[in-house]
This record gives sequence, C-alpha cells and structure tokens, in this order.
Amino acid sequence: MLITEKLYELFKNQIVHENQNSIIYKNVSAYLQRIGLKNLGAFFTKQSSDETGHRDLLIDYLTDINVPVLIDDVPYVNVDMSSLSSIAHFALNREIETTNRIKAMCVQALDDEDILTYEFLLSFIKEQREEIAVSQDLVDNIDDMNSDMGLIRLFDQNYEF
Ligand SMILES: [Fe+2]
Ligand SMILES: [Fe+2]
Repeated sequence: MLITEKLYELFKNQIVHENQNSIIYKNVSAYLQRIGLKNLGAFFTKQSSDETGHRDLLIDYLTDINVPVLIDDVPYVNVDMSSLSSIAHFALNREIETTNRIKAMCVQALDDEDILTYEFLLSFIKEQREEIAVSQDLVDNIDDMNSDMGLIRLFDQNYEF
C-alpha cells in the first residue's frame, strides 16, 4: 500500500467526519428553512454539499493511489438548535475540529515521509481557512443580534454568501 496503516485509518475516519459534517449542515439547513430563515438555510445547504465534496476528494485520492475505500456508517451527531447562536457556535467549533484533524493528518504524512499525501493534504486544508472565516463571521453577527429574532430575520433577508 502507498500509505501507512496509521494514515489510512486517519483517512477512513476523516471520510466519516466529512459525511457527518454534511449531515449536520443539512439538518441545520432544514431547521432554518422551516423557521423561515431562507438565506441562512440555503447557506447551510451549500455548506452541506461542500462537505460531501470534501469526502469525495479524500475518496478520489485513495482511489488514485490504488487504496481500497469502503465508507463506514456515520454516527449521529446531536446539534443544539435551541438558538441561532448555539447553531453558529456549533458550526464554528466543528470547523476548528475539522481543521485540527486535517493538521494531524499532515503531521502523520510528514512523519511517514509521504510527500505525495502531504501535498494532497495541504491543498485539502487550504479550504479550511475560508470555512473558519465564514463560520466566525456568522458567530460574530449572530452574537451581536443577541437572540433578537426581528434583527435575525432582517439579517437573513440580506445575507449573501
Ligand atoms: Fe469539510
Ligand atoms: Fe467545513
């Protein structure tokens, strides 16, 4: 095999993690659409499909280097949707966690002197910079609105992504 067992395990876990991200964001999107926050809902649907894109990049890389892939089951993650603030904080923390996981994969690849995988992971982790920035903006804006649904609805009407 072209990657070590250790790195392969991290890839398999990350495929599940990205699938989980996708489901989390789709659940959030459905909730937001249901309470009439259409643009924020659409934003999370876009995030959800970006996450399946990340999953596919990982799968494509393993396939390219002739490593077998079987996607594991995705454990359910409960998201506190009691307020917009808790949703935004959850998304930000999730993006930070995702970034830390990919960092750990980069470190493992370097440890393995696996430059091919390291180079792939660098391009993969680049996306996280924007993911964190966008999530941080959402947290800042929503926290400023202090659960005022009138303000949040106005924010939603003008939200562009
Ligand atoms: Fe992702
Ligand atoms: Fe993400």
